[in-house]
Amino acid sequence: MKAAIFHQPGQPHSFEEVDIDQPQGREVLVRTAACGVCHSDASVAEGKVPVPTPMILGHEPAGIVEAVGADVTELKPGDHVIARLGLYCGRCPHCLSGHPNRCNNRAAMQRRPGQRPRMLYRGNQITGVTGDGAGFAEKMLTHEHGFVKIPDDVPLEAAALVGCAVVTGVGAVLNTAKVEPGATVAVFGAGGIGLSAIQGARLAGARRIIAVDVNESKLAAARRFGATHTVDASSGDPVEAIRKLSGGDGVDYAFEAIGLKQTAEQCIASLTVGGVATIIGMMGAGQKIEIDAMSLMAEKRVQGCLMGSVRFPIDAPRYIEFYRQGRLLLDEMVTRRIRLEQLDDAFAAINRGEVLRSVIMFQ
Ligand SMILES: NC(=O)c1ccc[n+]([C@@H]2O[C@H](COP(=O)([O-])OP(=O)(O)OC[C@H]3O[C@@H](n4cnc5c(N)ncnc54)[C@H](O)[C@@H]3O)[C@@H](O)[C@H]2O)c1
Ligand SMILES: [Zn+2]
Ligand SMILES: [Zn+2]
Repeated sequence: MKAAIFHQPGQPHSFEEVDIDQPQGREVLVRTAACGVCHSDASVAEGKVPVPTPMILGHEPAGIVEAVGADVTELKPGDHVIARLGLYCGRCPHCLSGHPNRCNNRAAMQRRPGQRPRMLYRGNQITGVTGDGAGFAEKMLTHEHGFVKIPDDVPLEAAALVGCAVVTGVGAVLNTAKVEPGATVAVFGAGGIGLSAIQGARLAGARRIIAVDVNESKLAAARRFGATHTVDASSGDPVEAIRKLSGGDGVDYAFEAIGLKQTAEQCIASLTVGGVATIIGMMGAGQKIEIDAMSLMAEKRVQGCLMGSVRFPIDAPRYIEFYRQGRLLLDEMVTRRIRLEQLDDAFAAINRGEVLRSVIMFQ
């Protein structure tokens, strides 16, 4: 199969043959149909987060099952699936206490040392960015926990977005922060993750949803996706604007979906007393953020968020049902369809703010 090979930060990808094995045991082999291009992949490609190389990036795919191992019971060839390539074992304390996104027993779902690796590149083992399969490749082979079946009539390019943008953004609101009806919400950043958080806030029944971005086209999109107010952070202090729009002293819930120290600090500063800031954005390794210690006396809270605290087999089908009911906009988020070979252009387009989401189409 063909895959995009990430060699070094700053170097363009090469597009080469990778040898992928047949599924064994509980493994599933999926032909990738579509894969969204997330800012996290762009950050890895830029070297902000060091990873072993060579590697295959891409963690927002959907596809069709091609073959299953002998012990797979819930999937069969021909099934349409979304992939969530950060796996959960289902047996460790994190999984058993309802936090499968925190699973620290992922080795249990890998092949054992001495077994043939799932993927070979120029004769050596290669893995995807999550340690498993990867979306920037024509096929994915991983443990069955990495896939959730969806109805055949859901377009796979829309479904792909659920694997990262939607589970992260909607999940940050519904699972991580647990926003309640009537709350006030600010979302910093209106890219794929921020627009999903805005939709999550709409689904949660938030009374005011304030979107903050520096790009007018993103703010226009935010209004279409459910923002009740928008703030252009390129023309003034967004914290001041949020205070004014939320009745004087800030919002109940704020979300950072950009990945910058400055906006993470603005996110925390935009809270009212007792408010909760959820930092979704991925900052470079080693980056520190500062908070005003007195804000802790006002019972303000700051929390991190890993993939929207996703419980993949529970949340992904729910989000697909919202989509089929017209309550979660996914088609509107796909603003560019590209070929695998255009991956580096897609990363550049993210940095130029040109796209809501680029999706690589494989057929
Ligand atoms: N925590 C997680 O599990 C998780 C999962 C997925 C993505 N992420 C991270 O979430 C972040 C968002 O990802 P994305 O794919 O939506 O990115 P994106 O590039 O599509 O969106 C970012 C948005 O931020 C806006 N922006 C940039 N600088 C700004 C500023 N100073 N003030 C206001 N707005 C500004 C951009 O115009 C853009 O619309 C990234 O850091 C990504 O790595 C985290
Ligand atoms: Zn992502
Ligand atoms: Zn686990």
